[in-house]
Amino acid sequence: MAQSIGILTAGGDSPGLNAAIRAIGKSAIRSHGWSVIGFRDGFRGLMQNRSIRLDSDALSGILTQGGTVLGTGRDKVHRMDVGGEIMDMTGVMKETFGAHNLSALVCLGGGGTQKNALRLHEAGMPVITLPKTIDNDVYGTDRSFGFDTALEIATEAVDRLHSTAHSHHRIIVVEIMGHNAGWLTLGSGLGGGADVILIPEIPYSIDEVASAIIERRSSGSTFSIVAVAEGAIDVDLAGQLAELRAQIDGATGSERSSLRRRFKALFANRRNTVELARQLEELTGLESRVTILGHVQRGGTPSPADRILATTLGVSATDSIAAELFGVMIASRGDGAESIPLKKVAGRRKMVPVDHPWIVSARSLDVCFGDTP
Ligand code: F6P
Repeated sequence: MAQSIGILTAGGDSPGLNAAIRAIGKSAIRSHGWSVIGFRDGFRGLMQNRSIRLDSDALSGILTQGGTVLGTGRDKVHRMDVGGEIMDMTGVMKETFGAHNLSALVCLGGGGTQKNALRLHEAGMPVITLPKTIDNDVYGTDRSFGFDTALEIATEAVDRLHSTAHSHHRIIVVEIMGHNAGWLTLGSGLGGGADVILIPEIPYSIDEVASAIIERRSSGSTFSIVAVAEGAIDVDLAGQLAELRAQIDGATGSERSSLRRRFKALFANRRNTVELARQLEELTGLESRVTILGHVQRGGTPSPADRILATTLGVSATDSIAAELFGVMIASRGDGAESIPLKKVAGRRKMVPVDHPWIVSARSLDVCFGDTP
């Protein structure tokens, strides 16, 4: 039976992290009588043995706070920058874990964190994870906490952009986060009534987008809101990337590494949002403006839905520890939670299915996705 457990938060911060820390901590202390520590700044704090005691006082009053009281970081456990040298620090982390005589480590994070956690688990540490990210792209879970709050923020932005776009008869292109998945852009575009929604899962043609805007103008709408995901790409680039991906799959060793570098460079060079707006202005003759929402989408107090999700998953994590079920992620399933092996989650991403009901509904309202449906 567990006596003492550790928690860390890793990857980009996300609303709901503190609600999850509080739920894990309080249920560990109250329902199981365990003590709890938190490692600062993600896996780096575990490596450097920087921890704080999470007693009832430390856990009190954090439910509504954004960010993470523990701090976070984007380190990879097997490729850590230690004084300028890239090193595998898995063994050192295992030592810290042992030095604290911990019975379990709960890692709260997105896709990268699931991979890191699996490495630690395979190195012999009893690890459990929770899915957090505003991107909603963690594989195997219905939702990740942080998504609902970010969706609310991005939707409000799309709402607010309407009146100014309408007044000036402009195209407003709003860039929305989401990494390489389109959940946040699709949700806020649909919820906020965007006229064009561009997501990574549906490569777009700029000519199709321009035609849709021109058609709107002909039918009397002199403004357009274009919601574009930061990872959206056009059809030409999508074709080139698919070819490279096939080559990468068939390559090994240094050839594979160099192809991967080319892939990354090509993707990084994709048309950015400012260029997209400028080209749409040229093609349609309508003035355009750009709004990049950026990190405002990750900030501030979590929504009630995120607090509830983080709390439910946090309590399930301590149940899983009590049952000595490790190497799993506690996924959200309906209103409840379900454990899923980390092996099934790590290295995979939950993309928007192109026949998702949100896409089908948007298409029925004549929303343009930049493709030829
Ligand atoms: O994963 C969350 C996220 O906000 C993505 O949507 C975005 O691409 C990325 O993090 C930004 O990362 P950073 O905060 O490290 O710039």
